[in-house]
Amino acid sequence: MPMPTCGALLLAISMSFHLTTAVADQCSGGSNLFTELQENSPHGTFVANLTVFGEPESSSLRLGLTGADAGWFYLEGKTVRLSVSPGASLDREALESPVLMVALTCSEDGFSPVEYRIIVQVLNENDNKPRFLEDSVLTQNISELAAVHSVVFTTRAEDKDGDTLMYVIDSTSADGKYFRIDLPNSGKIVLAKALDFETKRHLEFMVHAVEMNTKERYNSSARIRVNVLDGDDQYPRFLPCNFLAHDGVSVCVSPVYTANVTEREVTVGPLHFVPGLVYAEDGDRELKAAITYAILAGTDHGRFHIDNVTGAITMLRPVESRSHTPAFSLSVMAAQVNDANKYVVTEVRVRVLAANAHPPRFSRPRYQAFVREEPGLAALVLTYSGRVLTLQAADADFPDGFNPKVRYSLTPQSNHTQLFQITPSGLLVARADQLRALQQYFLQQR
Ligand SMILES: *[C@@H]1O[C@H](CO)[C@@H](O)[C@H](O)[C@H]1NC(C)=O
Ligand SMILES: *[C@@H]1O[C@H](CO)[C@@H](O)[C@H](O)[C@H]1NC(C)=O
Ligand SMILES: *[C@@H]1O[C@H](CO)[C@@H](O)[C@H](O)[C@H]1NC(C)=O
Ligand SMILES: *[C@@H]1O[C@H](CO)[C@@H](O)[C@H](O)[C@H]1NC(C)=O
Ligand SMILES: *[C@@H]1O[C@H](CO)[C@@H](O)[C@H](O)[C@H]1NC(C)=O
Ligand SMILES: *[C@@H]1O[C@H](CO)[C@@H](O)[C@H](O)[C@H]1NC(C)=O
Repeated sequence: MPMPTCGALLLAISMSFHLTTAVADQCSGGSNLFTELQENSPHGTFVANLTVFGEPESSSLRLGLTGADAGWFYLEGKTVRLSVSPGASLDREALESPVLMVALTCSEDGFSPVEYRIIVQVLNENDNKPRFLEDSVLTQNISELAAVHSVVFTTRAEDKDGDTLMYVIDSTSADGKYFRIDLPNSGKIVLAKALDFETKRHLEFMVHAVEMNTKERYNSSARIRVNVLDGDDQYPRFLPCNFLAHDGVSVCVSPVYTANVTEREVTVGPLHFVPGLVYAEDGDRELKAAITYAILAGTDHGRFHIDNVTGAITMLRPVESRSHTPAFSLSVMAAQVNDANKYVVTEVRVRVLAANAHPPRFSRPRYQAFVREEPGLAALVLTYSGRVLTLQAADADFPDGFNPKVRYSLTPQSNHTQLFQITPSGLLVARADQLRALQQYFLQQR
């Protein structure tokens, strides 16, 4: 009894097995597919032929594409084709991954579906030019102290196709000669020529990024502007400068400052110098470091005091004797407060003038002279010995008695000023046509 039952069961199993095999045949024969596709391929481009046995036209077989990338493909019978929406393109650089994956589901009613994978690698095409990164072509600020042959900044371009780039400085651009690139792939800009804020504050040049490994050799260019920053490379200078040209450089020669003092006289307040205040400024005009002043050395320099901030010089004690010290010569230094090694020294001269202790005196209390009666408007006044009368007053403050600053004039008390004139140097002149013969005239001088 058990035997037939057993035989019927076996049949049933074998029938059911056969049935399953027959239906599954439609989806069998397939396999996972690996293929490649050039980027920017047009809509409808052939991707792969499916190898499942069944024909999609038969009503019992259904094929479907699923997965995140399924939108890139469509089926045409058993052929998979690329689907590109109008206006779009298969851009490898815009894809999350250059490998598209889609699941092919093959199903038939009443049976569990079979799934195959279609894996498509999108191949690169050189469809992107290099592009400079915005922040690597900004205006650069470089100190004039930057060392020649040092890397001053780095410029960078990117190429979405991942092409190897080479950077080239355009040697024809205005200031291209100031820079060079030693490693063409690096974008590291090297300073080739010293910068000088004092003569050139702005530079401009072009740099190109060129693809090295492509046949198109796409390139792009960037204009790079450089601001030269003032570095502390100049020493202080006393003003006003006497500029002298040397080797194409305008050299500032410090002035010698000169002042006068009078012997035995107390000088109140700072001395007055020619050509101006003792004053120095940082040669780095943009930095304008603070300046401090000092008297380094000089004849009897303890007699003088310099204000370390303003440079004003005062004399602490009057000079006792001009004949002993007719002049002082001081070495005055101006240095940067922030760097004592940056200094300038100039000479300050103080001349001692004689004290005005003696008034000028005429050699005689009274002069007598005459005027010849002559035609003509003016006549010189003569001494009885026939010489021209010159009136000289001696000044005992001067060794030879001659004070060039003495001036002569007639006092208002002189009752004939309308008839006589005296030149500032002491020559007496008469208005001859208005004098009467044998008349005496009295004049007073000062
Ligand atoms: C894909 O299938 C189509 C139609 O069956 C055929 O014409 C074509 O040659 C096949 N392509 C390849 C690459 O096998
Ligand atoms: C250069 O300096 C300017 C102004 O000081 C600033 O705006 C700019 O960002 C600086 N450039 C760089 C690259 O630091
Ligand atoms: C950059 O490309 C242009 C044309 O696209 C070409 O004329 C030029 O010479 C190239 N420049 C460099 C530096 O390769
Ligand atoms: C100092 O005195 C000399 C001679 O008297 C004069 O030539 C000069 O101008 C004076 N200098 C000053 C700064 O007053
Ligand atoms: C100037 O001198 C005073 C004291 O005499 C000192 O305290 C000050 O630091 C000095 N200033 C400078 C700028 O050297
Ligand atoms: C002029 O001055 C002299 C001497 O001072 C005096 O004797 C005389 O009277 C004066 N003459 C006149 C007109 O004032």
